[in-house]
Amino acid sequence: MLLAASTPRTIGFVILAIVFIGGLVYLFFNIRAAKGEVGSELELAANRRDDVRDEDLEGRRLDFALGANLVMLTIIGVSLPIYWLGEPGRQEGRDVDTARIFTNRGEEIYLEGAQCVTCHGADGTGGSTSYALTSETGEFIAQVSWEAPALNTVLSRFSEDEVLHTLNYGRNKVMPAWGAPGGGPLTEQQLEEIMFYLRSIQITPDRIAEQVESGVLRAVRQHLSAAGDEATDEQAAQWVSEARGVADKARQLAKDADQSLALEQNSEDLRWAALDILVSGEGLDPDEWEQYKTYGALLFANPGTAGTYSCARCHTYGFSFGADEEMTPRVNGRDTPIPGFEDGLTQAGGFFGPSLLEGATLSEFESPRSHAEFVENGQTIGTTYGRGGSGGNGQMPGFGPRVETDTVGPGIPNDLETPYPALLTAEQIDAIVAYERNL
Ligand code: HEC
Ligand code: HEC
Repeated sequence: MLLAASTPRTIGFVILAIVFIGGLVYLFFNIRAAKGEVGSELELAANRRDDVRDEDLEGRRLDFALGANLVMLTIIGVSLPIYWLGEPGRQEGRDVDTARIFTNRGEEIYLEGAQCVTCHGADGTGGSTSYALTSETGEFIAQVSWEAPALNTVLSRFSEDEVLHTLNYGRNKVMPAWGAPGGGPLTEQQLEEIMFYLRSIQITPDRIAEQVESGVLRAVRQHLSAAGDEATDEQAAQWVSEARGVADKARQLAKDADQSLALEQNSEDLRWAALDILVSGEGLDPDEWEQYKTYGALLFANPGTAGTYSCARCHTYGFSFGADEEMTPRVNGRDTPIPGFEDGLTQAGGFFGPSLLEGATLSEFESPRSHAEFVENGQTIGTTYGRGGSGGNGQMPGFGPRVETDTVGPGIPNDLETPYPALLTAEQIDAIVAYERNL
């Protein structure tokens, strides 16, 4: 009975009652005991009495009390430092445990709870999903397979807050909204658990470079094959190294024009001077310059790894679901193909990210350098870019290296500031910039 009622509240009330009644009893006896003494001088006042002698006071009782105090002090004196010594380890252990538990739960949500795995692949390697493409008025256009980007590099592209935004609200109707703000089923903590899992599956720079390279080679093979015979891997690799050679020539031209650029400490300046040349084509062989820009275009539309490393998946409508010639005119919203794009997608024509056609990037970014730096860093929530761009929700990814300084989830100290590798090299970003600035 007592157990059944023993909520902390009940216990509190009982203690309160005991204290209260006890107080009353004490008061009662105290007052009674005091009564007889009022005005009495039957006994001498304490200060007029003979004192107890020291020899009587310093007896066994005092020794015992002092001894007990010494024991208590020793216990406290020894145990406090021991506890204090173990404290950092205990906290660390708690952080490690929390991280492990969150990561495991995140994996469970990824695999079963939300089944991210069905679209984004095992370990976030990228995949696709079937999607019913409809017109604005809801008319069925086609059943397509829409590529879902790899998530094992997502923290190189976006800050955790930016990833949370996508998880909360979904993307382009095809990626569902998962968080409560977007009407999704998962709680804030579950999204944080997913983030712990995502942290655990990010891949190394070597694997990234390999994937980018193999995607580019595939694109180059297709490009070369379109012009004639089936191209081999060796031919494609040869073509890429020729294109990269054009960048070397631009650097040489820049050095010829300004000797100081040859100095080691001016290597950044050399990059920007060479990029100016690669964008304008000045002093370069026209055919070689064309090849270089085509290399940029193929990087822009890199088909490898579910389009993860491409720009086209966000800046070209239809890229992610491989719009074919038949579909393209309707996808473009007009019956007749757009001039110049009769047999393909409106490359860089805009979709989730804006159109980059007709010199859009020239009006946004004064110099090739600020353009390239934007592609490297991406959008940042709360920061403007270029002449008139806002941080928005930070959905333009950064393709250079990134450092996470503000992780989501339980406050696990992150003094190290986690670094994530670049997705594209400076050389690759420059080629894309040269392509974009000539659109
Ligand atoms: C029905 C398929 C589907 C499911 C399930 C799904 N996604 Fe997606 N997701 C997509 C597609 C498709 C895109 C790309 C959308 C686009 O092309 O704009 C995407 C985009 C994303 C992005 C943006 C990545 C980038 O680089 O742009 C993130 C992050 C993401 N998904 C995480 C998740 C997580 C985490 C889950 C599970 C909770 C999940 N997704 C479940 C289909 C899905
Ligand atoms: C995940 C989607 C996504 C991918 C992938 C992506 N972008 Fe973007 N991009 C955006 C969004 C969103 C914006 C900005 C929209 C806004 O103004 O708020 C943007 C803006 C830009 C701008 C500025 C345009 C302007 O006029 O303001 C440039 C340039 C650009 N992207 C280049 C690239 C390049 C180059 C790549 C590939 C290396 C790329 N983007 C990949 C989504 C993407």
